Amino acid sequence: MKIEKVGVVGCGLMGHGIVQIAAQGGHEVIALDLDSGALDKGIARIEKSLAKLASKAVEKGRQSEEEAQAWVRDVRARITPSTDIESLRDRDLVVEAIVENLEIKKKLFAELGEKVQAEGILASNTSSFPIGEMAEASGRPSRFVGLHFFNPVQLMRLVEVVRTEATDEDVFAAARAFGEACGKTPVACKDTPGFIVNRLLVPYMVEAIEMLDRGDASKEDIDTAMQLGCGYPMGPLTLTDYVGLDTTLFILEGWTERYPDEPAFRVPASLRQKVNEGKLGRKTGEGYYSWQGDKKS
Ligand code: CAA
Ligand code: NAD
Repeated sequence: MKIEKVGVVGCGLMGHGIVQIAAQGGHEVIALDLDSGALDKGIARIEKSLAKLASKAVEKGRQSEEEAQAWVRDVRARITPSTDIESLRDRDLVVEAIVENLEIKKKLFAELGEKVQAEGILASNTSSFPIGEMAEASGRPSRFVGLHFFNPVQLMRLVEVVRTEATDEDVFAAARAFGEACGKTPVACKDTPGFIVNRLLVPYMVEAIEMLDRGDASKEDIDTAMQLGCGYPMGPLTLTDYVGLDTTLFILEGWTERYPDEPAFRVPASLRQKVNEGKLGRKTGEGYYSWQGDKKS
């Protein structure tokens, strides 16, 4: 099956990026959020990002100014904002990118399972929850996959495509082809905690936070060490601010509850404390660093 009509539920940090790359890939996309303020903010971010990509294409001589502007208009025209879940009925694929809370996600998928046309594929962008549980809640486990994109979606070239025992082979193939059409390189993974990337990345972020909490080194030195010592594009504490301290905490709380005997899964004290104080990272202007837009101090 070919995916042409796409819906994305949640237009926050990840959702707005998924909407954008899906539209850039030629799909007709409905961007849906419960919160109309969040939806407006997500659409504004997409417009800013498209303008940036267009001016870069002109600067590099890949397109004329007119061609770049026409491209922006075409991509933007493929995106329809919505706050009404009924608008997703005719979708070939609906990707969920709402808050990392399993009960809220299961409730949404139960509703999507009833509303979206029977052949439609449902997908979750969860960072950490079992795809199988959401697939069961949707009532259509054979037409369900994980589609895990990375932050910032516009720039990161990977998508993890996660299948459960119940996922149909053609559904998996269609989801993989969708990732490719969006300009990403897909990798396949079974339904395991954190899939490939987060199973390796999140315990590393935990170690870095605990190193800071113990006073072994400053946040700047921990970050510089991993950038210059390992060639990582950003250090682990900057990355935690980038991902969102709330999202990082939700991931770890889900894992510690489910796998209490796994030593790699634990919640660092300062992470919980900062989230309680509303310091969620770059998105709120403060996390392990203070942020003014893209600039940290
Ligand atoms: N849209 C369009 N263009 C954008 C953009 C956007 N949203 N964001 C940045 N750009 C442009 C910039 O304007 C810049 O353009 P110029 O070259 O013309 O200046 C270019 O892209 C590069 O931007 P930066 O200068 O900010 O780039 P950088 O070299 O510092 O790289 C980065 C930024 C790609 C984010 C890099 O630091 C990086 O790869 N960091 C690691 C990110 C990472 O690990 N992500 C995974 C997080 S974990 C996750 O996602 C999974 C989970 O479940 C939690
Ligand atoms: P976010 O808080 O930036 O955005 C979530 C959006 O979902 C908000 O705009 C909110 O209004 C909306 N929302 C909440 N409940 C809703 C509902 N029932 N219906 C419609 N909209 C609803 O979160 P985010 O960082 O974009 O994370 C979204 C998902 O992507 C999470 O599952 C997260 O684990 C995963 N993820 C996050 C990252 C990251 O780096 N932040 C990376 C990969 C995957």
